[in-house]
Amino acid sequence: MIEFDSQKQQFHLYNDQISYVMEVLPGGYLVHVYSGKRIRRFAQSQPYPHDGRSSFSPNVPDKRLQGFTLDLWPQEYPGDGAGDYRETAFEFTYADGTNATTLTYDHHEIVAGKPRLTGLPATYVEADSEAQTLNITLKDALRHVAVVLSYTIYADRNVVTRTARVDNEGDTLIRLNKVMSGCFDFTDSDYDMIQLPGAWANEKQLRRDHLAAGIHVLDSKRGASSVAQQPFIALCSPNTDEFQGEVHAFHFVYSGNFRIAAEVDAFDQTRVLAGINPYEFEWQLEPGASFQAPELVYVYSDKGLNGMSNTFHHLYRERLAHGQYRDAQRPILANNWETTYFNFNEDKLVDLIDNAHKLGVELFVLDDGWFKKRNSDTTSLGDWQVDRDKLPQGLAGVAKAAVDRGMQFGLWFEPEMISEDSDLFRAHPDWHVHVAGYPSSRGRNQLVLDFSRPEVRAEIFRQMTAILDELPITYVKWDFNRNLTEVASVGRAADHQKETAHRYILGLYEFLEKLTARYPQILFENCSGGAGRFDPAMCYYMPQSWASDNTDAIARLKIQYGTSLLYPASMICAHVSESPNQQVGRITDLSTRFATAASGNLGIMMDLGQKDRTDLPEVAAGIKFYKAHRQLIQFGDFYRLLSPYETNDCAWMFVSPDRKDALLFFFQILNSASRPHVKLRLWGLDPAATYEIDGLKLPGDELMNYGLFIDAGINHDFQARVLSLHQVN
Ligand code: DGJ
Repeated sequence: MIEFDSQKQQFHLYNDQISYVMEVLPGGYLVHVYSGKRIRRFAQSQPYPHDGRSSFSPNVPDKRLQGFTLDLWPQEYPGDGAGDYRETAFEFTYADGTNATTLTYDHHEIVAGKPRLTGLPATYVEADSEAQTLNITLKDALRHVAVVLSYTIYADRNVVTRTARVDNEGDTLIRLNKVMSGCFDFTDSDYDMIQLPGAWANEKQLRRDHLAAGIHVLDSKRGASSVAQQPFIALCSPNTDEFQGEVHAFHFVYSGNFRIAAEVDAFDQTRVLAGINPYEFEWQLEPGASFQAPELVYVYSDKGLNGMSNTFHHLYRERLAHGQYRDAQRPILANNWETTYFNFNEDKLVDLIDNAHKLGVELFVLDDGWFKKRNSDTTSLGDWQVDRDKLPQGLAGVAKAAVDRGMQFGLWFEPEMISEDSDLFRAHPDWHVHVAGYPSSRGRNQLVLDFSRPEVRAEIFRQMTAILDELPITYVKWDFNRNLTEVASVGRAADHQKETAHRYILGLYEFLEKLTARYPQILFENCSGGAGRFDPAMCYYMPQSWASDNTDAIARLKIQYGTSLLYPASMICAHVSESPNQQVGRITDLSTRFATAASGNLGIMMDLGQKDRTDLPEVAAGIKFYKAHRQLIQFGDFYRLLSPYETNDCAWMFVSPDRKDALLFFFQILNSASRPHVKLRLWGLDPAATYEIDGLKLPGDELMNYGLFIDAGINHDFQARVLSLHQVN
């Protein structure tokens, strides 16, 4: 998978689907040559030296290299202050206060498999034969600094992962101001740029724009990957659509501040850089110490955006998520939040559990409000002891009600937060992230605990494990409802303060590593006021995430469509809630709400105990339907067919790995008089097979090429149709 041609000084990473080529130029400059569709053998060498074009593109100091300029060359890890004026991959400051650094090739090694990253979540392999890793060491001998660039190529995935480690090989401190995880240079610029910006209850809104000249930055300064942006960018050819065309996609495996920049220079070349946001970041690298950057995942697809998504889905489901739930069907849960908010008692919960059980629900989740005096969002975060006023028998009474009925029991926590009205705050008024002596901003009336401090983590770990050790809990919803402000850690030396945001994330990862290892039987769900920290790093610890606090079936179409660009359905939690919807007031059919929620990892958030409701049989039928198709939805291949961003409709489908079964979802947003028929061409079926669908027997190739009329019975706003396909002989 990885070859080094010592004559041409060329590296070629390849599998059946992709190639990634780099070359070491005279002088040791490591340049990027190609990344994309598989090339059998790369025969050309780089034209050298490049013409300097003008004195405004400076030449390297070595006179033997004549007109060579770094300013114009595609590079692997472009330097700081040494003649490349584009976005830099790194910025280091040395003891003398200066920055200029040029990294050149020193040596490399090729190793089987994929080494783990210390302290950081990353994709992995289960056997060394699954991947090969190339470590290239670059050095600036005068600065006594080395950077090890690591590239892993999987044998059978169109994926290359990258990361960088900085080693201080000298005897003076180096201040790291910027350490990007990867740089990708392209010698052209005719791309569309795809991103997933969002807001609370409106997450992952797909945006596509033609890439213009200049620097385009997607970032987070919030201390979390955030609701506002996903650490993701894709560049695709303008003619690329869901089904065909080239895409280069980059996804950063990190939960904190990130920065992704796409720069188009004056010569129509494009540079993509991704890594930890240099904003409020500085790392003091002591002599002999190393700094490890998080992982960047690169996916190349020549099968359009569905091809890109398919690669991400398989990678994240199979080699990012881990633990016993990775390959297991996820339980259908009922959650009390939208039904009770903080206002419940044991009777009310037992009633909900009883009704949920009768309808086929498998897991009951007790959300916020079960601890100390938590009757509103102004109090008690940090005091993880049960509120005996609400639950006189403790949590054990509720857990028993579920377990006695054969259901599982799950619990909500928000471990990284503290309320000022809490025993924890009264005992430790300086345990939150803040600048000593300076006023703190509030978010949802709460402060953020300083997870960069081991003693803070230890106390929360102690409180959580006291509960998790005691009770038959098989699910935890881990929430995070505000972002960081006034980022500093009390007691940390002044010259280390700018490490706080990253140390916070490292502390969080350490906590999660310990917690998930201690409770392999617990399914952890990642939540952040919806999807405020739904990123690949969190998926490493928690194999599913709450996709949005917006449970409206129609608003969710765009949210789930955007989310599906990167994450498989098993990771995207979606609940059926009441109508009118509590976030947007929209009235929708129960069947539509089920169709949207059943397109992900299904849950129920309904007041099932209401005496006069008539829809319970339909709820039971929806749950039964989901159980019958759960394996296909959670572990099948997913294809988007019609975009709610481009049309008044939305459609997607799931196909089983053996292509014997498929499930088609169609949604009409607004109805109109005399609307044209909708004929959908299906995707991913076996063209040679025959499928039974809606009482008809239809050839796979006909369904994929001619299509299927899908709008029968569709006659009002916000309507869905779900069709099941099964191969017959
Ligand atoms: C935000 C979450 O997204 C909701 O589902 C719910 O758990 C609330 N927090 C509870 O405070």
